[in-house]
Amino acid sequence: MRSLLLLYASAFSTLATAFVHPGLLHTAEDFTRVASKVEAKTNPWYAGYQKLVANRHAQPSWVASPVPEVYRGVNPKGQNYQRLYNDIAAGYALALRWKATNDVQYANASAAIIDAWSSTLKMVGGSGDRFLASGIYGYQIANIVEILRDYPAWTGFAAAKEMLVNIFYPMSHHFLVNHNDAKVDHYWANWDLCNLNNILAIGVVTDNKIMFDEAIHYFYNGSGNGAITKAIWKIYPDIDGQDLGQLQESGRDQGHTMFVVGMLGIFAQMASNQGVDLFSYLDNRILKGSEYVAKFNLGYDVPYTTYVNSWVNQSEISNNSRGGVKPIWELLYNRYGKVMGENVTYTKLYAEKVRAAGGGAEGGGGDYGPTSGGYDQLGYGTLMYSV
Ligand SMILES: *[C@@H]1O[C@H](CO)[C@@H](O)[C@H](O)[C@H]1NC(C)=O
Ligand SMILES: *[C@@H]1O[C@H](CO)[C@@H](O)[C@H](O)[C@H]1NC(C)=O
Ligand SMILES: *[C@@H]1O[C@H](CO)[C@@H](O)[C@H](O)[C@H]1NC(C)=O
Ligand SMILES: *[C@@H]1O[C@H](CO)[C@@H](O)[C@H](O)[C@H]1NC(C)=O
Ligand SMILES: *[C@@H]1O[C@H](CO)[C@@H](O)[C@H](O)[C@H]1NC(C)=O
Repeated sequence: MRSLLLLYASAFSTLATAFVHPGLLHTAEDFTRVASKVEAKTNPWYAGYQKLVANRHAQPSWVASPVPEVYRGVNPKGQNYQRLYNDIAAGYALALRWKATNDVQYANASAAIIDAWSSTLKMVGGSGDRFLASGIYGYQIANIVEILRDYPAWTGFAAAKEMLVNIFYPMSHHFLVNHNDAKVDHYWANWDLCNLNNILAIGVVTDNKIMFDEAIHYFYNGSGNGAITKAIWKIYPDIDGQDLGQLQESGRDQGHTMFVVGMLGIFAQMASNQGVDLFSYLDNRILKGSEYVAKFNLGYDVPYTTYVNSWVNQSEISNNSRGGVKPIWELLYNRYGKVMGENVTYTKLYAEKVRAAGGGAEGGGGDYGPTSGGYDQLGYGTLMYSV
């Protein structure tokens, strides 16, 4: 008991004093592995790299199109958030290209995109959907910034952190506290989860332990649908040899349900790189959700329990957008299957399906259609998460 307490105390104080950098989706060790595999042209990493460089967003000629006011969701000013998610896809692809090759022209091009936005953006608005923008684009920008912080020639780091802290963080914090003035169970799990990802990511980028803990505590125990036992709310033990977990959005449609499992994987990955293990939390609960979603979307039956909250009553699992292809599975498959040695039967099959659809690798923003759903994940998982 004494040694357990000491272990806990020392893990806690390590985190209290210092964050690991880079330490969001990727660590220095990950970048070293990726660069050496790419140099040796070893698959699947090399296939992932070829997928990256083929994407039009990964080109150093990309020119950012920042605006002072970004709008998402139907509103009198119209919507222009396509500018932001396209530039983010470019900023991330170029940052990865830099790390995969060590060629600074790509870091320079990625930094130019972040600098263009941090010197221009004043606000993110729109309908209630503005809180999807704060969450999704906030955590994505934070991930680019966390990579670029190691680029010695970059002078824009402070301005990028200010943009994240002054524009993106307050929206996510407000959403998790107020839920846009709706009932606490009104918003689907993905809304909480993208905003949790944003807060966690900004906490790491800015070395702010209060923000980091805010996100972790909400994940464990928050009042809205993004908390883990609400996002994956119903566990079915031993369904043909595996535990499966029904998701809060399973009765809504499969595209959003997959987004939830994707956001959970990203949250756990970023926390893990700071020494907080959420993958194994509650007996691998995220895996139970991932297996449930993957199994159903591959065409198999899964058990389903009527989902009821203060505004919906869903007596059947939804077939809408069943079987969709998005780059969320390599992270979950590699972590649970390769690193942790867990039974990832259906998550593995889904990773293979998405890899095959991409010609041998998961792609990134721009490879999954022009609308926002194709940019919800940063992707390139075959390159970045294969171990
Ligand atoms: C990118 O390269 C140009 C040309 O060398 C230089 O003027 C600029 O400062 C660089 N920007 C960054 C962010 O590295
Ligand atoms: C969750 O909240 C309850 C009541 O507010 C508290 O008793 C419990 O310790 C919390 N659990 C975690 C994991 O934070
Ligand atoms: C893994 O899960 C599959 C599918 O549910 C099951 O058929 C298989 O027996 C499980 N394997 C082990 C080793 O538990
Ligand atoms: C949900 O709908 C079903 C069937 O339509 C009904 O039997 C059930 O009472 C409803 N549950 C709640 C809590 O409203
Ligand atoms: C989903 O599709 C299956 C088979 O195609 C069908 O049996 C089931 O009733 C459908 N469920 C819904 C909710 O449409």
